[in-house]
Amino acid sequence: MLVKRSQKINCLDLKGQHQQLKAEIFEAFERVYEITAFSGGPFVEEFEKYFAGYSESDYCVGVNNGTSAIQLALLALGIGEGDEVIIPANTFIATAWGVTHVGATPVFVDCDPQTWEIDPSQIESKISSKTKAVIGVHLYGMPFDIDSVKSICDKHNLFLVEDAAQAQGAKYNGKSVGTFGEMACFSFYPGKNLGACGEAGGITTNHEKYALKLQSLRNHGCVTRYYHDEIGFNMRMGGLEGASLSIKLKYLEGWNNRRREIAKRYQKEIVNSKIKLQFQPENTDSVYHLFVVTTDEKEKFVTYLNEWNIAPGFHYPVPCHLQKAYSFLNYKIGDFPHSEYLAAHCVSLPMYAELTDDEVSYVIQVINNF
Ligand SMILES: Cc1ncc(COP(=O)(O)O)c(C=O)c1O
Repeated sequence: MLVKRSQKINCLDLKGQHQQLKAEIFEAFERVYEITAFSGGPFVEEFEKYFAGYSESDYCVGVNNGTSAIQLALLALGIGEGDEVIIPANTFIATAWGVTHVGATPVFVDCDPQTWEIDPSQIESKISSKTKAVIGVHLYGMPFDIDSVKSICDKHNLFLVEDAAQAQGAKYNGKSVGTFGEMACFSFYPGKNLGACGEAGGITTNHEKYALKLQSLRNHGCVTRYYHDEIGFNMRMGGLEGASLSIKLKYLEGWNNRRREIAKRYQKEIVNSKIKLQFQPENTDSVYHLFVVTTDEKEKFVTYLNEWNIAPGFHYPVPCHLQKAYSFLNYKIGDFPHSEYLAAHCVSLPMYAELTDDEVSYVIQVINNF
């Protein structure tokens, strides 16, 4: 008989990772402190070099968060007022913020009913003379159908930007995400697979011209101090964040592999006709930032999980096109049925590298008893 655990298993728990790395990270913080390299500087540059190498890109430009990364990437492409950028309705809202913050209009498309990622077959009907780019999101850590989206972009002369905020280390056809579009935008928010001790983000690219533009834009529009060649922003990455990220990057593959292990168990051992899992195409290697399932009995399932001391998450309860902030775009319920279904029925199971085998077995058993 299954015995209820006394300690809650949360959807995400950052304490284990940070306790394990405390001494190593504090030692790095001391090095930052000693040379007062708090904004940009050598610790950020070191991380940029490491992360570009890790993600098989020529350049990485560190910034203050993933939302800025999207905004700056679009600015570097010359996208602005009067332009349209196609993005999935099923994503975290920040994908859309990046578009809005450059003065362009986000144009939403539905997700695929099986993979829950941007549905390439919905894109072409949304292309207008104003469309400049498509942002594909590697949602929950799983690459979207890059080949199909890229071929549409090539056919219509559109830029492809990857929102890889949730997918550090994921692969598509054996190649790292972040290398397929003109640029890829990463978030290093603390809860991400690779998360800073603080807020941080970055853009990877294989194009020198974009890297140089991004370096200027993030730093008040200047290359030479106090000479401002263009309108810029203060969107630099902090030194403490950069230092913590360089340390954590050494552990990322191990953490991602542990997430893969847990996901494999969920996929194999959760056997309950009421619970539906995300379909994963063969050519994708997800890093399982989130493990989202759907059920028609969401309310009952969530209450039940909480009764058994499992606290799930919800990613995301409202699709972007129905967010109040975007009511001025006049989308309505029914526009994107698959994204709306997901929003209404999604439940995120516990997923982080420090989950023990016993905890994973417990989650599986509880779900199978539902
Ligand atoms: C898909 C997606 N895009 C963009 C972002 C924005 O990143 P940040 O929170 O670092 O601004 C996030 C992070 O939450 C995200 O999940």
